[in-house]
This record gives sequence, structure tokens and C-alpha cells, in this order.
Amino acid sequence: MNDHELELEKALAAVTAMDHLRDGMLVGLGSGSTAAYAIREIARRVADGLKVEATATSPASEALAIGLGIPHVSFERVERVDVTIDGIDEIDSSLRAIKGAGGALLREKIVAAASDLVIMIGDSTKAVATLGRRSLPVEVLPFAAGFALRTLRNLGTPLTRRRKHDGAFFLTDQQAYIFDLKFGVIDDPEQLARTLEAIPGVIAHGLFLGQIDVSIIARGHNVVVRCRKDVAAGAGSGDQAKH
Ligand code: A5P
Repeated sequence: MNDHELELEKALAAVTAMDHLRDGMLVGLGSGSTAAYAIREIARRVADGLKVEATATSPASEALAIGLGIPHVSFERVERVDVTIDGIDEIDSSLRAIKGAGGALLREKIVAAASDLVIMIGDSTKAVATLGRRSLPVEVLPFAAGFALRTLRNLGTPLTRRRKHDGAFFLTDQQAYIFDLKFGVIDDPEQLARTLEAIPGVIAHGLFLGQIDVSIIARGHNVVVRCRKDVAAGAGSGDQAKH
């Protein structure tokens, strides 16, 4: 798969997610390159008369949305969101995902928790049988960095503190560090999530378990839509292939 084909898949997944938008909705905007396709698509539809407001999961997505003319509400003022559209690093067939390659995992998780419907979109490389091939980001309060590092090392898996291109430590939008854990295979994501959440100083981890209602994965010119069984009418249920 070349880069161009990958971009086409991202765009197709983003366009497919637009089926869930209605006038009057408050839409959560994810972060990353796939979510950016959704933001650009929403902007096109707003220009054509769709009446939605949006709230972003990162300053980058907020700037993109505002720049493209999407009415934006700061999440500080938001109690609930109708639908959020975001990207993933990996997603399995049970709608469990890893997110956070861009470092926006904490705000993405908060906005997802506030959302009635959470839709994840991705190209075909994002669909996996088992989570763990890509790094699992763990966001850590700088104050706790040393202690968290020691505790995370006890998991027995390779880890690195994320750095920027200039060599300085990467800081999230909350000015926190990211430790990237390389598991290869995560046998029990729920247990791992509980373990990470029990570490004082860990602010967030990239496992999204039980939060995702719909996944839309594009493969070539087709999309595979997976829905949680109890998802609201209109989103459909079970797996659907669209061609
Ligand atoms: C941002 O921190 C991430 O959670 C992204 O949503 C995720 O990494 C997907 O990004 P891409 O769409 O750029 O692959």
C-alpha cells in the first residue's frame, strides 16, 4: 500500500462517518491525520448548509476547524457531545483500540467519555487481530516521571520516553511526558489498563476499551463498519460492509 492509497482510505473512512451527522449536533473533533480528513469534510458540509458546532480534542484540531469555518465551542463549556469522530493507531474486532501516537490521548479520552456516540475512522493498516504491535502511549505527570519510569519498567516491556525531532522530551498539550511501551502483543488489554490506572502519576494511557461505538475502516474502495450491538438506531448494528 503506497502513501496515496493510504490517504484515499483515510478520506473514504472520514466521508463515511458523515452519515452520522445531523443538524443541531455538537460534534467532537479527534486529532491526527485521519481526523483531519473528517474535519475538512465537516467544513465542506458546513459551507453547504449543515448546522453543527464542534469541540476539538487538541489545539491543532481546534485551529484547523476554526480556520475552515466550523463553529467551535471550547470543551471547557461543554457538558455532553452528540458524536465524536476520531482516528486510531490500532483497533481490533471488539472495538478496542490504541490511540495517542500524536499525544492527544487524554483529551481524546475525555471528549469520547462525554460523547453519546464515538466513531473511530481509519485506513486498512489500523485494523488488527490483537492490539500491541504499535506503541502504547502512557502519559505521565512530569513530577512523577522517575517513579513512573521505574514502575512501568516492572511491566517488563521495552519503553522509551517520547522525544521531539530536536531531541527534547515531547510534551503533551497538558505539558506532560509520554512513555511509549512496546508490547508486541497485549494479551489482556483490560488488565493492562487497570494496572496502568493504578500507577500514581499516570494521567492517561492509550487503551480505549468499551468507549468506542462504531469503527469505520476503509480498505481500498470498500469500508467495513463495525458497531457495538447496543448502539443507537441509525448507526446500524453488527458488521456491515459498504462498497
Ligand atoms: C492522536 O494522539 C492520536 O490518538 C490519533 O488519533 C491517532 O494516533 C491516529 O492518528 P492518525 O490518524 O494520524 O494515524
